Amino acid sequence: MRHLLNPLDFTVEETEQLLNLAKDIEENRSRYAHKCDGKVLATLFYEPSTRTRLSFESSMLHLGGTCLGFSSAGSSSASKGESVADTIRVISCYADICAMRHPKEGAAKVASLHSRIPVINAGDGGHQHPTQTLTDLYTIRSLKGHFDNITIGFCGDLKYGRTVHSLIESLVRYPNVHFILISPPELRVPSYMRDDVLKGFDYEEVTSLEEALPKLDVLYMTRIQRERFFNEEEYERMKDCYILNRSKLQLAPKDCLVLHPLPRVNEISVDVDDDPRAAYFRQVQNGLYVRMALILTLLDLA
Ligand code: NCD
Repeated sequence: MRHLLNPLDFTVEETEQLLNLAKDIEENRSRYAHKCDGKVLATLFYEPSTRTRLSFESSMLHLGGTCLGFSSAGSSSASKGESVADTIRVISCYADICAMRHPKEGAAKVASLHSRIPVINAGDGGHQHPTQTLTDLYTIRSLKGHFDNITIGFCGDLKYGRTVHSLIESLVRYPNVHFILISPPELRVPSYMRDDVLKGFDYEEVTSLEEALPKLDVLYMTRIQRERFFNEEEYERMKDCYILNRSKLQLAPKDCLVLHPLPRVNEISVDVDDDPRAAYFRQVQNGLYVRMALILTLLDLA
């Protein structure tokens, strides 16, 4: 039995296979309509979500399966003090596969140790978000054709942004990826990323989005993660530190992709949405194909 807790749980070759399957699903969706007949997906969301939870549920429904679950800790037995370990033992009796989001780093890992069904990490605190990474990779591959030799800028909250951590961990495995990490000093990537994940790779840390923009093939914007700040004043001070608008985007190359895992707050003005380089709503669409491919792969039905 396999889980997906970290993007590195899939090798580069396995990731490639999964993206190829997602592509086939995109092109021939009706062929997959009954692949999961009789299967049940549980979504265990201890933290708010729109895209991730609904895209998992939509993916299972498009495969012919059914879904159950909860969308907040308050509506589960966690509010009575039940541990993640006990909850997953219970869910293993009701479902064939589960996707879990939890505010604590490592929660999905704990669940996997006590589970009889595959566990998908749908976000654990400020740590990892591997299914967003697969979605990001799929979007970059389908619009750029490759990952090697690209310059990618990550902008915003690189400290708490789990989608950033997962995508960087995945991209360092491809040749000649150049990373430009754009953040205020307070929101730099965590030290383990500099000292371990990024060590020996081609990266620079800068504070100016305007200076980085002309060099980028891909710009990955992120939201300042309000819920992970220790105090509100600090968040208020940081919240609008980067705002990409139409006039700023003129500094970027004509074929630079603009990605964002969403939800956005102020960091991308709505006047960017019509620019052909804005790919964040396509990312959402791609998340469906990728999660369908992932469910099939983990259930050994691919
Ligand atoms: C992200 C997350 O939950 O980490 N959202 C998502 O799943 N697409 C990004 C965010 O909340 O900022």
